[in-house]
Amino acid sequence: LVIRREDYRPPAWLVPDTRLAFDIDPAATRVHATLSVLRNGAHSEPLRLDGAGQTPLSVVVDGVAVNDWRVEDDQLFIPLSGDAHSIETEVEIAPDRNTQLMGLYASGGNICTQCEAEGFRRITFFPDRPDVLSRYSVRLTADRARFPVLLANGDPVAQGDAGEGRHWAEWNDPFPKPSYLFALVAGDLQVNRDSFVTESGRTVELGIWVRAADLPRTDHALHALKLSMAWDERVYGREYDLDVFNIVAVDDFNFGAMENKGLNIFNSRYILADPDTATDYDYDGIAAVVAHEYFHNWSGNRVTCRDWFQLSLKEGFTVYRDQGFSADQGSAAVKRIEDVRGLRAAQFPEDSGPLAHSVRPDEYQEISNFYTATIYNKGAELIRMMATILGPTAFRAATDLYFDRFDGIAATCEDFVACMEEASGKDLTQFRLWYSQAGTPRVSASLEHQPGGGRATLRLGQRVPPTPGQPVKQPMLLPLKIRLFGAETGRPLTDERLVLLDSNSETIVFEAVTERPVLSINRGFSAPVVIESDRSPADLAFLSRHDDDPFARYEAMQQLMLDTLVAGAVEGRADHEAAIAAVADTLDNPELDRAFVAEAVLLPSEAFVGDQLSSVDPEAIFRAREALRRDLGRRLEDRWRTAYAQAPQIPYVYSPEEKGKRRLRNVALGYLAAAGVPDAATLAFRQFEVADNMTDRQAALTTLVSSDDDLRIAALDIFYNRYADNPLVLDKWFQTQALSSRDDAAATVAALAEHPDFTLANPNRARSLVGAFGVNQRAFNRPDGAGYRFLADQLIALDRLNPQTAAKLLPPLGRWRRFDEDRAALMREQLERIVAQPGLSKDLFEQASKSLDG
Ligand code: ARG
Ligand code: ZN
Repeated sequence: LVIRREDYRPPAWLVPDTRLAFDIDPAATRVHATLSVLRNGAHSEPLRLDGAGQTPLSVVVDGVAVNDWRVEDDQLFIPLSGDAHSIETEVEIAPDRNTQLMGLYASGGNICTQCEAEGFRRITFFPDRPDVLSRYSVRLTADRARFPVLLANGDPVAQGDAGEGRHWAEWNDPFPKPSYLFALVAGDLQVNRDSFVTESGRTVELGIWVRAADLPRTDHALHALKLSMAWDERVYGREYDLDVFNIVAVDDFNFGAMENKGLNIFNSRYILADPDTATDYDYDGIAAVVAHEYFHNWSGNRVTCRDWFQLSLKEGFTVYRDQGFSADQGSAAVKRIEDVRGLRAAQFPEDSGPLAHSVRPDEYQEISNFYTATIYNKGAELIRMMATILGPTAFRAATDLYFDRFDGIAATCEDFVACMEEASGKDLTQFRLWYSQAGTPRVSASLEHQPGGGRATLRLGQRVPPTPGQPVKQPMLLPLKIRLFGAETGRPLTDERLVLLDSNSETIVFEAVTERPVLSINRGFSAPVVIESDRSPADLAFLSRHDDDPFARYEAMQQLMLDTLVAGAVEGRADHEAAIAAVADTLDNPELDRAFVAEAVLLPSEAFVGDQLSSVDPEAIFRAREALRRDLGRRLEDRWRTAYAQAPQIPYVYSPEEKGKRRLRNVALGYLAAAGVPDAATLAFRQFEVADNMTDRQAALTTLVSSDDDLRIAALDIFYNRYADNPLVLDKWFQTQALSSRDDAAATVAALAEHPDFTLANPNRARSLVGAFGVNQRAFNRPDGAGYRFLADQLIALDRLNPQTAAKLLPPLGRWRRFDEDRAALMREQLERIVAQPGLSKDLFEQASKSLDG
């Protein structure tokens, strides 16, 4: 069953008020719902309420029990004569048997909810679509000893004793919201409290709720929350609007976190941190996700989405906002580099594969499959391009207009773009193609110069590749920041200029260019495109030294390394000199921030090298990359040793400077290991033992896990025993091994799937082994197909428990077109096996069948 965007119709019935009463019991929870319903316009349709797999125990209309209702295809039909009625239903559900983790479910003995996108219908009968906004009041009753804490959306109203060891609490959310933002939590939790005073003087009580033992690991998240609240006031003029803001962390969660109004629910990996158990990367991720969910209060909750095709309206914009927040906490350049690396790792392959879809899709079978890097991260790039085209002042005026005009309304991507146009006077007609056309545009750039101070001519071309269902594309509007540098003097020859490339080809002329110019293009990654330029290795090395845009400088270095690796993979050997010299110069430059240096000297991933080739040869890519790593390690050994000697502060401090130092030091350790210096394993093991923080300990473990040294086994055992009772750290133990570059990685992963601590029931654990293995290019793509079979086995088993998480892990199998015939056949065999499974979920079916066709 395919849902189409063009079929959108406004809801037949509205629900201005919703009252819910939960009688909580993990095995049998009673949900009593009272909905005030209003006929929306003149029609004679019955009331239709969604209710996945449910049958009502009772239906009451205006106080009178009725039986002229019917349930068909998971919908409850109730004929109604008037225009306004009160509807009551009651259902019974079993949170402790909910393994899908959608709707009301149990995690670690506590009860919580996840409703986005369509989980609310698993809790009660309701028009479960984002354009039905309702005011909710909620009453929770539960056993006081087992569930001392009872939370829901909005503000607390009252609480009391319910007799027989039970108690109750009432919550009221004054802001109309769609059902996907509904949340409740009942549990045995402790709280880390603070408060925040908004710009207009409202005091907000903040609380982060976790198990007692986790309380000491909540300060970082709480701090990040306060920073986010202040940032959104300062940068977007957005204040918080309730008296309380609660966050609850749970161990079993299908993704990162959820922005439920006033009651965010988080995967514990995005809340819990202390230096001993969380890496710098985890600390960054926590701050980013806390900010993201908080920012949704405006971009998502106050202004929500009309239908799920508009998902990027809230997600793309909110990712853009959280990226801006993170950029302001440390190095904006390094943050941009990390975001672009993430986009290239996750979104570019999606855009060039069988699951490619536009930022505003036209159809879907299962909406859960569209919480993708395209909707989130490419969506954020669209907002960034509009911000670039408008400039900061007009962009802020446009977001003010958007928030103001659509407050309390379920809006569309078109509404957002229209505000951008109205506030700036710019015409974004052609820009809208970014919402409808999938695929990563490819831009060709070549620069010619008349020697002797003459004219320079830049020829630009664009091509948007075909994607499933979209064979022919129109030229897009691409904002490209460009600057020319003089090859002799190393100085800029022009100002930075913003070129809006809007046709298939265009020529730009620069007059009186006094020396040979070198092209810096797509500075700051101003457009999410692939640049194909004819710049020589020497020019790229030049830019890596002289470009004044840090991203462009990083990019030149990456392109140089990429060209070197591609040559190595295709020809079996490559000239490493230019890359080695560029890395040496970068390491030698004292003016560069350490974090930037660490990013710049890192080689592109095996997968990214594969993306450049017409047919991926995982072994050849691995060998080429190891050869370059070894050469860089050996030739620059002194420099790596110097970098390694720059120890960060003890005890651990989480700050941009200290993070940068740790990062560079661990990159240096990796290169020393690649060089095969005799003391590499000893250095790593020593670091593993003495580190006072997880960043250094995990980096050392990562180095050891890919080595042949016996210290590898020792380190894995020590790590396991030390953290056996910390699930988030055990995830790292599984993940590090799944990412190993050893020849036996696939066998190790298969053995780990039988480990007593492995379970598919916990999504973090499943992702840490099965998900990580899927991105280990060489191990996963073993020529005998063992990797493909393993993944398919795991997906089939996981689908029975948790279809949403299974479907998320499928994409590596869909990349068969990118490989040789033998591998392609082996991958297709597994996809066919999946599709043929009886009782397959629609989540996994959609992903697997599209992967076969696309
Ligand atoms: N809205 C949440 C967030 O971006 C994620 C919800 C994901 N839902 C899903 N069905 N995958 O913060
Ligand atoms: Zn989000």
